[in-house]
Amino acid sequence: MTSPEDLLANLAEEVAPSSWRDAFRRVPRHHFVPDRIWIGDGDDETAIERADAPDAWLRACYADQPVITQIDDGRSSGRGYRSSSASMPSVVAMMLVATDLSPGQRVLEIGTGTGWNAALLADRAGHGNVTSVEIDPTIAAQADRALEGRGVRVILGDGEEGYPPDAPYDRVLATAAVQRVPYPWVEQTVPGGRIVTPWGTSFHNGTLLRLRVDADGTSASGRFGGNAGFMWVRGQRTPHGSLDERVRPDHEFTASVTDLHPYEPVGDFDASFAIGLRVPGVKDLLVFDDDVPGNPRYTVYLMDPGSGSWASWRIRPGPHDYSVRQHGPRHLFDELASAYTWWQEVGRPEHSRFGVTITREGQRVWLDEPGNGLTAAEPGAAQSGDRSG
Ligand SMILES: C[S@@+](CC[C@H](N)C(=O)[O-])C[C@H]1O[C@@H](n2cnc3c(N)ncnc32)[C@H](O)[C@@H]1O
Repeated sequence: MTSPEDLLANLAEEVAPSSWRDAFRRVPRHHFVPDRIWIGDGDDETAIERADAPDAWLRACYADQPVITQIDDGRSSGRGYRSSSASMPSVVAMMLVATDLSPGQRVLEIGTGTGWNAALLADRAGHGNVTSVEIDPTIAAQADRALEGRGVRVILGDGEEGYPPDAPYDRVLATAAVQRVPYPWVEQTVPGGRIVTPWGTSFHNGTLLRLRVDADGTSASGRFGGNAGFMWVRGQRTPHGSLDERVRPDHEFTASVTDLHPYEPVGDFDASFAIGLRVPGVKDLLVFDDDVPGNPRYTVYLMDPGSGSWASWRIRPGPHDYSVRQHGPRHLFDELASAYTWWQEVGRPEHSRFGVTITREGQRVWLDEPGNGLTAAEPGAAQSGDRSG
């Protein structure tokens, strides 16, 4: 696994179709990956320095896995939050296919990162047709160097604002996830153009949203589809905070018992996606007893950093009576249980039956068709002339 050919051998034709395979050959991923990277998850996370382990570094570049390239926005202290990466190649391919890009079209990418995806876009769209916005100055400078000669314009800025000087775009592709689609992306896309972005909630991160801008260029609509968990755009990150900070021994709580197991509401992709739409601001955390993943005894925590509410849901083998504790003004377990009941009652829809419409007023999520709204329009992010912070 040390070349683009090795990577392509592991990407099925339906993931990386022949129309994109030559681009993957012409744009070698390792030209864009910096010398210091991290791979793996959680306790398995490993740092690799190219100079110390050149073979491992090259293998990481051509495996179908994300390569983490920055932690904690480049600060030397922090919680180990992953803040930039070269995305997983099969997901990159899925997103390139979703953009339906033709030679000569103009593209705005949000989240330049290493620059690999921008180079792939430019390989298809042509020199001078890709503008890529990156919020982090160090990352933007590295990408600018890596992209030299590939005809991509790298802009240091907040991609939630788009980049008006190069608008209008035929395609907008975000490679950082949003919970609310910024309206400038709609304003800066031509009528009939496409916007592709990873989209999620604090409960479920996330899926791919494919939007088409309407004929008069004032709104965009489209559906979700596919598994695409991404880091959030900086302005839409969910608040950090450890369990110990959020769930304190001196907190009062109400106690109850449930026969509901988290297997489906938390563990099933479609169920948890739908529940996330109905329990705004809620994060979940699964803590195994003795820190051993797969241990049959564990606790699911639900937390709303905004209100300070939390719930714990204690799972153990044996009879289906699991104890629940709830603290704070929101009863988060009750909210989750009723969202789960709703999802069952509406026929257990897959995530791809949901969609979104973006207008100047905000975004509205719907089931099956735009008339069947689940949520009133929530204010969008980065409305023109209405930025705070
Ligand atoms: C998953 S990485 C992008 C991967 C990249 N396209 C590649 O090919 O390597 C997400 C990037 O989005 C950037 N980012 C986060 N919020 C942003 C924002 N508001 N505007 C522009 N870039 C942003 C991060 O700094 C990070 O570099």
